[in-house]
Amino acid sequence: MLIPLVVMLLQTGSSHCGLPFYNGFYYDRVMNDKVYLNGVRLMVETSQDAVFSLRGANVTLPCRYYYSPKLDTPRMIRIKWSKLREDNTKAADVLVSSGLKHRSFGDFRGRTRLQRSAPHEVSLVINDLRLRDAGRYRCEVIDGLEDESGTVELELQGVVFPYQPHHGRYMLNFHEAKKACEDQDAVIASFEQLFKSWMEGLDWCNAGWLVDGTVQYPITLPREPCGGKNLAPGIRNYGERHKNLHHFDAFCFSSALKGIVYYLAHPQKLTLEEAKQACQDDKAEIAKVGQLYSAWKFLGLDQCDAGWLADGSVRYPITAPRPNCGPPEPGVRSFGYPKVGKFGVFCYKRS
Ligand SMILES: *[C@@H]1O[C@H](CO)[C@@H](O)[C@H](O)[C@H]1NC(C)=O
Repeated sequence: MLIPLVVMLLQTGSSHCGLPFYNGFYYDRVMNDKVYLNGVRLMVETSQDAVFSLRGANVTLPCRYYYSPKLDTPRMIRIKWSKLREDNTKAADVLVSSGLKHRSFGDFRGRTRLQRSAPHEVSLVINDLRLRDAGRYRCEVIDGLEDESGTVELELQGVVFPYQPHHGRYMLNFHEAKKACEDQDAVIASFEQLFKSWMEGLDWCNAGWLVDGTVQYPITLPREPCGGKNLAPGIRNYGERHKNLHHFDAFCFSSALKGIVYYLAHPQKLTLEEAKQACQDDKAEIAKVGQLYSAWKFLGLDQCDAGWLADGSVRYPITAPRPNCGPPEPGVRSFGYPKVGKFGVFCYKRS
């Protein structure tokens, strides 16, 4: 019904009619407040599957748009990429583009661009991925009044580790837990990241904060003190806790390492202060817990010697379990935070 009317108006050159007029196109308002372009529909297509990558890598989040039925003349559109928050309510701007102009925001400045190598492609390229880049992104295409979007999930391959500070168990509120992970070159883990680690065998009987403000812990071998023997293996959930008042441990997440971690060859065992100095003398720095886990997971670091780390803990990484090197599963073994004694040291060198 609308099409003949438009044709008639174009023929007569008249602009006096009851229809609103935008950008040379007529719009018709239909049910659900959806706006259609003369019966032409704008569609946005993204990847259904999550995109997997690693810290430090460059990644492309695919997105394209098209009109149905097809339009012959190119149209001026605007693109807006944003990143959804953990609870999917709010979004933070990542990049906006209009014509040849584009702008990126915050932490994404200087690291993002639009990839338009195919017609109608508006994929987002993010360089030098950071741990906090993981999450869900929205690709929004705006054509006049029409606004369509799709989302893409970016997942980083990584490792989750439980973290307890030197002053003991259940000492961190949510904000302190977040900071504790950041101090270890990691971020506080998401439920998805913890779940994935549980699938890979993580079993830890102390509850820790996750980024969504819940407190949970992963159990693969049900036992009495960890939710009960009769409860199936799974993630035990204490639910949402008060972010200031309640205290637990933390689950931290790290991905690939930008650099190397090594056990320093040194003639004698060291105190923590001597260990820090020894790494500096080697033009490196004493490694953080997240860096040791990352080197264990991604670089296969295996060392059956306990060494100091920056937070004052003593640990060692085993990828090929053997007698006298801890339990029969691969893992990072911990001696806690020794108050006395001398050990080796793990150093970190940036690449
Ligand atoms: C990422 O892209 C930048 C710029 O194009 C390039 O210099 C860098 O080598 C790339 N990094 C990786 C890991 O491929």
